[in-house]
This record gives sequence, C-alpha cells and structure tokens, in this order.
Amino acid sequence: MKIFYFTGTGNSLAVAKRFGGELYSIPKVLKNNELIFEDEKIGIVFPVYGFAAPNIIREFIEKVTLKSPYIFVIMTYGNKLGGGINWFMEFAKRNNIHIQYADGLLMIDNYLPIFDIEKQKLKTKNIDENLNRLLNDVSQNKHYINHGTFLDSIATSSIQGLYKILPSFNSPKKFSVNNSCNGCGTCSKVCPRDNITIKKDADKSKPVYGENCEFCLSCINLCPQKAIKLKRESNPNARFMNENVTLKEIITANN
Ligand SMILES: Cc1cc2nc3c(=O)[nH]c(=O)nc-3n(C[C@H](O)[C@H](O)[C@H](O)COP(=O)(O)O)c2cc1C
Repeated sequence: MKIFYFTGTGNSLAVAKRFGGELYSIPKVLKNNELIFEDEKIGIVFPVYGFAAPNIIREFIEKVTLKSPYIFVIMTYGNKLGGGINWFMEFAKRNNIHIQYADGLLMIDNYLPIFDIEKQKLKTKNIDENLNRLLNDVSQNKHYINHGTFLDSIATSSIQGLYKILPSFNSPKKFSVNNSCNGCGTCSKVCPRDNITIKKDADKSKPVYGENCEFCLSCINLCPQKAIKLKRESNPNARFMNENVTLKEIITANN
C-alpha cells in the first residue's frame, strides 16, 4: 500500500502513519519526474482548506497517474468539512483518478486567524475512535463516499468563489516577524513550497517570504520562538503541532 500525504502541522501525517504502508510526501513527489504509481491499494491524506483541497494537492492530482483498484482519500479538518469530499471527487475524476472511499476526519483546527488552539485542544473530537473506523473500513476495502449535503456543496462553491475574487485572502502579507526571531531557519525548513529564504537584515537573519505561499501556517505554528505572527489572530501565543509527529518528520516531509 502507498500513502501520499501533505501536512502543515502534522495532523495529516499522523493519520498517514496510522495507515502504514509506504509513505510519500506530496511536496517531495512533486519535485521528482517520477509521477506514475501503482499498487493494490493507494491512499491520499491531506488537510481541508476552504472546504476543498490545498493548491498543492490540486497540482499533485493534475500531474500524477495512480493505478490501483482501490484508492481512498482522508481529508483531515478542524471544524467544517463542507462539500470538500464532493469537490475533490469531481476534481479527481476530471483528472482520471477514480476513488472508492473518501471521508473526513475531524481534528484540531490549525487555522490561526479564526481558531484559538488552546480552546481547540479542550474540545471533544473523538479523533482515535473516528480514525479507527476509517482504518477498519479501508482494511476491509469498503466502498463509501461522504458526499455531504447540498448546503455543504454550496458552502464549498461560495468560499472557493471568494478565494478567486480575493486572491490575497490567505497571503503571507498578513505575516510579521518580531525581534524574538533568532534566524534558526525552522520556518524555511518546514515550508512545503520552498517559499521562505533566511536573509541577513542589518545584523540579524530573518525569514523573507516569496510569492508561492500555500498558507499551511506551518512556519507560524512550528516557529520555536513564536516569532511569526498573523496581523489578526485569535491567540498569538497559541501554536499547534500534532503530538504524534516530530518537528524532524515535518521537516523531512516538506523540505
Ligand atoms: C488555509 C487553511 C484553511 C483551512 N480550511 C479549513 C476548512 O475549510 N474547514 C475546516 O474544518 N478546517 C480547515 N482548516 C483546518 C485544517 O484543515 C486542519 O486543522 C487540518 O487537520 C490540518 O492538517 P495538517 O496538520 O496536516 O496541516 C484550514 C487550515 C488552513 C491552514
């Protein structure tokens, strides 16, 4: 079994690890020319962004060829899945990928502009119980698609439409780096888009952002100094990394 995953803060990697098999980091796969994969079972695990899929996942689906009788998809999310699964099914189908099983898994919401991680951690999300159900389904080659409701699909098209009108909605222009930055470069190492360069500014080294931000927020969440802030955020001191992964694993996945 092959599992392709993308992660910003570890939720999707933690889930991918539980499925086992050979793990492939999507940012890394995209850097290679080898984009044809075959197996008796193939999984794709990634976070929901805007009730749909992150851009890096769209890019992966457009480029990759997956040959398998059983392809399953797990979309991790923190609050509302919307019509994310239906959206992704359609997108994958247009790119010749036909999926047998697709569901969401509610986890901690890492979208710092809206959610306070400390409050998120106090919520009951039954992650293990729900993950065990997904693991069991997939081990039995169950066929199931969580289509959501008509209103869920409206929510997805509305927010995706909004992103198109306002491309700066999720932009690194909303980030600022304060003086506690010690230039350690963790932000640059966890960035799945190689979009952060550490540059000398006067006597200090600091991260400088390019134009290719995924807005995964890994740079902010994983900064050891909590030196990167959003201009507007729910709790500037609350940061998140899934407890079942290490920083080194995220760096290896995204660097
Ligand atoms: C840019 C962005 C958009 C997000 N959009 C949604 C969303 O529409 N619905 C939701 O429930 N969670 C949303 N989230 C939360 C993540 O999907 C969730 O925390 C996920 O498990 C993070 O996975 P990761 O740790 O593997 O990066 C969003 C997070 C980010 C950074």
